[in-house]
Amino acid sequence: MWGGRFSMSPAEVMQEINASIAFDKALAPQDIRASKAHASMLAAQGIIPKDDARKITAGLDRILEEIAAGRFRFSRALEDVHMHVESRLEELIGEPARRLHTARSRNDQVVTDFKLYVRDWIDAADPALAALQLTLARKAQAHYDTIMPGFTHLQSAQPVTFGHHLLAYVEMLARDRGRFADARARLNECPLGAAALAGTSFAIDRHATCAALGFDRPTANSLDSVADRDFALETLAAAAITALHLSRLAEEIVVWVTPQFGFVRLSDEFTTGSSIMPQKRNPDAAELVRAKAGRITAAFQALAMVMKGLPLAYSKDMQEDKEATFDALASLRLVLAAMTGMVEDLTPNPEAMRRAAAAGNSTATDLADWLVRVQGVPFREAHHIVGRIVAVAERRGVLLSELPLSDMQAVSPRISEAVYPLLSVESSVGSRTSFGGTAPQNVRKMARTWIKRLEKASEKG
Ligand code: ARG
Repeated sequence: MWGGRFSMSPAEVMQEINASIAFDKALAPQDIRASKAHASMLAAQGIIPKDDARKITAGLDRILEEIAAGRFRFSRALEDVHMHVESRLEELIGEPARRLHTARSRNDQVVTDFKLYVRDWIDAADPALAALQLTLARKAQAHYDTIMPGFTHLQSAQPVTFGHHLLAYVEMLARDRGRFADARARLNECPLGAAALAGTSFAIDRHATCAALGFDRPTANSLDSVADRDFALETLAAAAITALHLSRLAEEIVVWVTPQFGFVRLSDEFTTGSSIMPQKRNPDAAELVRAKAGRITAAFQALAMVMKGLPLAYSKDMQEDKEATFDALASLRLVLAAMTGMVEDLTPNPEAMRRAAAAGNSTATDLADWLVRVQGVPFREAHHIVGRIVAVAERRGVLLSELPLSDMQAVSPRISEAVYPLLSVESSVGSRTSFGGTAPQNVRKMARTWIKRLEKASEKG
């Protein structure tokens, strides 16, 4: 393809380091889509004969079929996907194939293909993110009043409901979807026609190729067009944050399914046994979701380091933008599917959760709040009083709710019989009615709102 001024073939190791076909063949569908748009535009502008464009289009369609059917032959000597497609096209249609590369370069070609790939991925990932949200929201609806301990520092803090906890992840995923949507909106400018770096002397119609490929507008600066990989970085950054969210839920599932917690159970479908310890049920899928956050976040770092300090415009360094990106995006799709399956699969154990929620005087704050609300005690003072009462209960080896009234009144005579009902976990969660709070009525409403919104969107989509 570029051998005109060369008299020797590249060294074996040169081919090995230079070739990208082993991984960029994943771009073949996008490469063919972009080449078809380019060929039609060239013909419409009278730059190549219309008949050549027709042959090019038919040939490209055939190549796509060959690749899909696994009948396409890849060879390292042809470097990358662009050269493979073009060289096969020449085998198929001869001379007209040699006109396809008019007014373009592999530099604008590869960035166009890669943008289309990332955009296709976002378009497919969004429904997967929405499906996980819907699964979480439905679980939350089923458990809007299932009480569990809420933690800070992984210490029992205040009781919450399981539904509330699950809806926290629905919110995170909503922000994740927003980040991907933002990245998509910004990436949707077409770089095709920037050519090698400076634009072209041919009378191309960039708006035509842009429209044919579903972009909003052509990129405005040819140097920036071929040098830009922000779209991949932004998408990887969003993917990294999503992966972090999923790793937190995965970690919680790992903890919850331990016999020590026993909060939830995963079926045989999402657990594995141990080859030596017959009693074990390991949450391998959750552990792998947790672990895959490593490679997904690393992909952002890898590409950031490739791009750092690169002078404008294209450098071959940028060929290293693909493998980690492909891997990270595929990994995220997999962990999303696995997490959706796991959330669907898991069954909570409400008794174990409630027991844990009631342990550790998790309603101490409710007693302090009562002193504030009913007795007009300043919160700081109320906090101190309850702290002393908790210390007495601990000394006696009983829970706050089991401590005799006389012991409480010895600390603060303002306390009456009326506080006992407030010390139950049910009363505690029921009282958290502030907007966004854990009260079951709030949770049920929020779960319903999400389910309605997500179901409506999925019908439309
Ligand atoms: N395989 C190359 C890449 O992925 C395509 C662009 C090659 N351009 C060049 N000037 N060598 O970046």
